[in-house]
Amino acid sequence: MTAILTAHELVRSYGSGATQVHAVSGVSLELSPGELVLLRGPSGSGKTTLLNLLGGLDRPTSGTVVLDGVELSSASEDELAAVRRRDIGFVFQSFALLPVLSAAENVEVPLRILRTPVPERTARVAELLAAVGLADHANQRPYELSGGQQQRVGIARALAARPRLLIADEPTGQLDSHTAAQMMALIAELVHEHGVAAIVSTHDPRMAEHADRVLQLREGALASGRHAA
Ligand SMILES: Nc1ncnc2c1ncn2[C@@H]1O[C@H](COP(=O)(O)OP(=O)(O)OP(=O)(O)O)[C@@H](O)[C@H]1O
Ligand SMILES: [Mg+2]
Repeated sequence: MTAILTAHELVRSYGSGATQVHAVSGVSLELSPGELVLLRGPSGSGKTTLLNLLGGLDRPTSGTVVLDGVELSSASEDELAAVRRRDIGFVFQSFALLPVLSAAENVEVPLRILRTPVPERTARVAELLAAVGLADHANQRPYELSGGQQQRVGIARALAARPRLLIADEPTGQLDSHTAAQMMALIAELVHEHGVAAIVSTHDPRMAEHADRVLQLREGALASGRHAA
């Protein structure tokens, strides 16, 4: 299948001279629609740095990222912001929900930003909350939800605008192992069902069973790709 995301020889360095750190050094990868790729690697190996480059939150020192035909590394700030709103869903380890908004309102935020008409918005939010098993919790605020439920709201929000690419940086880092496995299974199901390309970082080796492919980062470089199952 044609790749939706192509990264070529990505390098991201911090600092200069003797103190320079190569957080990402020469990473090339492709992601296809409907594919869930796991990004593993020890702390400091460059996972967050790489995901930020792939999602247009940061720019590479050298190399290119092309998402659906758009070259992110040379795009203007406005173009980047538009791509992030329209084409990319982000899931964060800390959930990053807005505390004064209900579960439904949190999921609705990306659709408000895109000015999706209200009836369509309402239908989409209901559909997503049902998909993540929270139809009965739509009106609860984040502090009235468990960690796993909050992360499900985060996943629903990330998928609200029907992105082409889902980027999740340790989405299960704050969850117990049982809930973490449920969350990965849910992400895998949604990715496969909706043909989204997803890249998910984790420390947890048990998550590999839910992925189509596992990438291993070591000191900023991909060690080896392995097909799971
Ligand atoms: N803004 C920055 N300035 C300088 N160095 C940085 C910066 N951000 C990250 N680094 C360095 O880049 C390297 C990779 O960091 P990164 O956060 O990508 O690792 P990680 O794999 O996500 O780690 P963790 O599993 O702990 O989240 C580290 O050595 C880190 O210190
Ligand atoms: Mg990180």
